[in-house]
Amino acid sequence: LATEQAAHLRSLLGTLRAPALVAPMFLVSGSAMVVAACRAGLGGAFPAANARTLADLELMCSEIAAGVDDLEEPVWAANVLCHSSYDRLDAEMEILLERRPPIVICALGSPGRVRDQVHAQGGILLADVSTPTLARKAIDAGADGLILVGAGAGGHAGPYNGFALASEVRTWWDGPMILAGGITGGAGVLAAQALGADAAYLGTRFLAATESLASSEYRAELVSSSMEDVVLSDQVTGVPANWLRPSLPRSSEPVQGPDFSGAIAAKSRAWAEVWSAGHGVGSITELATTGVLADQVVREYADAVRRLDEQTRGVEQQGVR
Ligand SMILES: Cc1cc2nc3c(=O)[nH]c(=O)nc-3n(C[C@H](O)[C@H](O)[C@H](O)COP(=O)(O)O)c2cc1C
Repeated sequence: LATEQAAHLRSLLGTLRAPALVAPMFLVSGSAMVVAACRAGLGGAFPAANARTLADLELMCSEIAAGVDDLEEPVWAANVLCHSSYDRLDAEMEILLERRPPIVICALGSPGRVRDQVHAQGGILLADVSTPTLARKAIDAGADGLILVGAGAGGHAGPYNGFALASEVRTWWDGPMILAGGITGGAGVLAAQALGADAAYLGTRFLAATESLASSEYRAELVSSSMEDVVLSDQVTGVPANWLRPSLPRSSEPVQGPDFSGAIAAKSRAWAEVWSAGHGVGSITELATTGVLADQVVREYADAVRRLDEQTRGVEQQGVR
């Protein structure tokens, strides 16, 4: 089954205009962003936790299904929190089993919790991981592929440099692998492929897109920020994540550990007022639609392919092989 799912994922990625997915972002990506990403020829994803209620989750899934209905093979994914404290997972999975996203991405916990359900409906199960140890555990637990989250990513960032992480994991894993963290455009997508990744995952670049659920203040701050405004802290969710410095509270009660129980998309939670962004925040220079940003990424990717082709041809002419 794992080989079958891997082949299916690779064939889906092969249909994209550039091998890139617009990553799921808590309190940011909704159905409109997923639909716009798919319609622009990239993959799209959303966190199921963004639905305030289960009825909202049903609605989001229907909106996506309707929005991509005329596309031959839309590449969209639902991201589920597999953390042990997340108590809505089973109820979300029941809805997702019916709505059948082609891909389910499990984060912050073992994919083993949802493996059988996803595979029973023919879906592809990816695990979001930030270390080689977690990558191995995810594969052992039955994930079909990995999303490797490197340092500098928006949201919960990994501790390791993405280049090194991809290279190390590729020494033992030849299945599907998507690289995330600080990939801000088409050139980065090509670099991810050069490192052996099947595709890239872009969050921050799309944070301020018109379809983003982020507030206008958050989006304005994104446009004016650079990587030096981003700080890593585990004092918001209990897990290290990258935040825009001006949005961090000056003082707060120390956070003991992650607790994703209850209504996590509610305004009352600590993270509701703190704005996340990755090191790539400097790539946000304008408020544009997801479609326009996706077109830019596709163009940048094509330019990078051409540029690299010329460079490598130059190297060959000099006799270096
Ligand atoms: C505001 C924000 C919220 C995020 N929320 C989630 C989430 O709910 N689930 C998840 O798996 N990843 C989440 N991420 C991480 C992204 O899916 C992705 O891994 C990351 O953005 C890639 O790095 P980049 O921001 O440098 O492109 C979030 C990222 C951002 C910026």
